[in-house]
Amino acid sequence: MLDQEGWPALLEAIKTLDAGFSGLPVHENSAPGIERLAEVLNATAERLQDNYPYFHPLYAGQMLKPPHPVARLAYALAMWINPNNHALDGGRATSAMEKEAVREIAAMYGWKNFLGHLCGGGTMANLEALWVAGQLHPEKKILASEQAHYTHKRISGVLQLEFEAVPCDARGRMDAGALAKRAERGDVGTVVATMGTTATGSVDPLPEVLALSEKHGFRVHADAAYGGYFVLTDNLGEVAERAFRRMGEADSIVIDPHKHGLQPYGCGCVLFRDPEVGRLYKHDSPYTYFSSAELHLGEISLECSRPGAAAAALWATQRLLPLEKGGEFAHGMERGRKAALALFEKLRGDARFVTAFAPELDIVVFVPKAASVSEASVLSRKIFASAAKRDLHLAVAELPARFWEANLGTTKPDRETITCLRSVLMKPEHSDWIGRIWDLLSSSADEILGAHDRSPQPMPANPIQ
Ligand SMILES: Cc1ncc(COP(=O)(O)O)c(C=O)c1O
Repeated sequence: MLDQEGWPALLEAIKTLDAGFSGLPVHENSAPGIERLAEVLNATAERLQDNYPYFHPLYAGQMLKPPHPVARLAYALAMWINPNNHALDGGRATSAMEKEAVREIAAMYGWKNFLGHLCGGGTMANLEALWVAGQLHPEKKILASEQAHYTHKRISGVLQLEFEAVPCDARGRMDAGALAKRAERGDVGTVVATMGTTATGSVDPLPEVLALSEKHGFRVHADAAYGGYFVLTDNLGEVAERAFRRMGEADSIVIDPHKHGLQPYGCGCVLFRDPEVGRLYKHDSPYTYFSSAELHLGEISLECSRPGAAAAALWATQRLLPLEKGGEFAHGMERGRKAALALFEKLRGDARFVTAFAPELDIVVFVPKAASVSEASVLSRKIFASAAKRDLHLAVAELPARFWEANLGTTKPDRETITCLRSVLMKPEHSDWIGRIWDLLSSSADEILGAHDRSPQPMPANPIQ
């Protein structure tokens, strides 16, 4: 069931909003007749039925989390104004709300005096961070791990900055030893530390990256588009916890409210520790700055028009669910992680499956046991399809087979990459549904693999770290 309880609250809020403009003379409403509108809206709903049920806990595939009801309603409410946060002229109230909401995000990393703003998403946010990085170190290289989001390589190309990938270890984290060796050459301008990789949620070794930055003088950019909010949680493993604790020492941070922050798409955020980088954005457009002498959002972002509604939604969500350790929002993040750990333990205790490594955040990757990597890859796709028939929606990913090397045992390593099953357990409710998810996954595996011995995987200890 799609939740509908919030609509009376929205109608009330629309009246409150309307009251703010009651002094204006009445004007003609040019909307089409309500019957035609209802017809078109229903046709839209029918088209939208052709989607995976992203809002449901049995959707446990890609990084998709439904917006919080308050975000959805606040966004819809703001649509009656349709503010544009490119400048104060376009969105006075929502510009102020954006500044407040972004200040609260920056406070998670201990930043008070910083520069930051919302933008279209993680790609735009990383573009801005690397654009600033490139201006500060124009002749030097951008480095990110082999498992960093593909956007970094592509953005570097757009910015005409040289990009190089740093190898990963067998847990999908940047190999700090390889980075140390590479940095010796002295031509590294910026290192991107991914705080939760897209494929496996692996956390790069930020403390080691920071120590190398100290030695070699490169910038550190933390791509926490996915993982940024985990800084509020208290059930991370020791290694990830240590890395998140140091995030405030990065030069720039990207975090996506439209991933874990319960926002509709179109809400990324970039933060710079040194507010002085604002000078790099300076332009002298004669048409955007008429109404205020105050520095506004259009002067510190690359995008021009941006939805003020995104700021209203974020502001409302953070008002309801403050970004604090031990709070309801943090607890929701912890529940997703708990679900991932529970699924990992179930998989680990079942001989039909082989896990890679323990999840550092809330993403689990695994394959069915098979005679070879090729066969496991084929079976992964079959289990994916079988689970979807049962309304359990997982994802498939193509990852280095060496992520499994400690656990594959007699499986023939006939390919360098393996097609695996991947589950992103980012909804708090996943922790209540893990039993059901497991039953459906188990039935799907039975269908594809036949009845098998389910005794635990014969594998070395795989501590949750
Ligand atoms: C670590 C990371 N960085 C950047 C991005 C790109 O973000 P967006 O899809 O919002 O542009 C993603 C998307 O999944 C991501 O996981």
